[in-house]
Amino acid sequence: MPEFSEAEKQLLIGVRSIMLRRESPDKSALENFGKRFFDDDLVDWTEAYESLMAKGHLQFNNSLYSLSDEATKLAAEFYKKRMSSGFDEWMIRSCESKAYSRFCELVYGIDLCQCSMVDGEQLDKLMEVLALTPANRVLDLGCGVGRITEYLSDKTGAKITGVDFAEGVVDRANKRTAMKRDRLSFCVCDMNELNFPSNSFDTIIAIDTLYFVDDLDETVGAMKNIIGDAGQMGVFYSQIIKPDDSRDLLDADSTKFAKALHNSALSYRTWCFTENEYEIWRKEKKIAEELKADFESDGYMDLCEGRAKEAEHLLELIKDGRVSRHLYHIKARCPAIHGK
Ligand SMILES: C[S@@+](CC[C@H](N)C(=O)[O-])C[C@H]1O[C@@H](n2cnc3c(N)ncnc32)[C@H](O)[C@@H]1O
Repeated sequence: MPEFSEAEKQLLIGVRSIMLRRESPDKSALENFGKRFFDDDLVDWTEAYESLMAKGHLQFNNSLYSLSDEATKLAAEFYKKRMSSGFDEWMIRSCESKAYSRFCELVYGIDLCQCSMVDGEQLDKLMEVLALTPANRVLDLGCGVGRITEYLSDKTGAKITGVDFAEGVVDRANKRTAMKRDRLSFCVCDMNELNFPSNSFDTIIAIDTLYFVDDLDETVGAMKNIIGDAGQMGVFYSQIIKPDDSRDLLDADSTKFAKALHNSALSYRTWCFTENEYEIWRKEKKIAEELKADFESDGYMDLCEGRAKEAEHLLELIKDGRVSRHLYHIKARCPAIHGK
């Protein structure tokens, strides 16, 4: 692969990400994206605009930037590498920190080394609606460190395969559960390239992972194919809207995920966990503050600061009424019933 500077990689990721959202990649949108996405890692892109145009990767027309086909593929690779290694590093550090374990216990009521907003109450509901037994073959999409996957299998006896694109955590999860190989396994897989055969699993779980796919319609279509005609899915999905968006978009039937389900002609029931999510973010902020000294002596202050910063941001959005959370239970064969 040809060499690219960090600035060129960031700019390619920026243009592709904005195009995937079907928004216009003009200079100001790119600058905003850069600040938000790369945060402290953002480098100066000034020369990258020129060099990428000189290489034919970037085009500029009517104030908008676009990518050549080759540059689009390269941008996808750079994005995946950055995201998977970012998640990997964060989650491996989370597994190693005793303070993070205590943090999870206090925030979620159960320590499963969560990298999400799922707590004990939500997991109980998930198990209740999926009614898993040892006969089930389950796929857990974006399983991270796999502690939730393991917990669900321990509780129900279901055979679960956890998949994630972060290689380090998948390796760790496999090593940790070596004695449970008859019902638990983990493998590296990109949710943008789900090619498990039709009917290979009867249940799919996705806990706070579907925000990260390139094309939600495509991924939901692939998930539908995997569970075949008689399968089910259990998905936790939080919707965040822009300041001027209609608050109706927070309804369970109006989220981006619900639209993808409609597009794939899939029926579902939902349970609202919005209040529960608010409570979790309030606790995150408070507990991160209370456990500062533990994180500091543990050597994982970055985890504490990361969580506190995220909680502060989410609490602002919540104050503005821009967040909702739902559990979706999708049944391939079920007529449409939209629950609470
Ligand atoms: C917010 S974390 C949730 C992890 C876990 N489900 C939990 O509840 O703790 C999102 C997970 O999705 C994974 N992920 C993100 N994009 C992915 C992709 N394209 N393919 C596979 N996994 C992906 C991340 O590595 C991470 O483990």
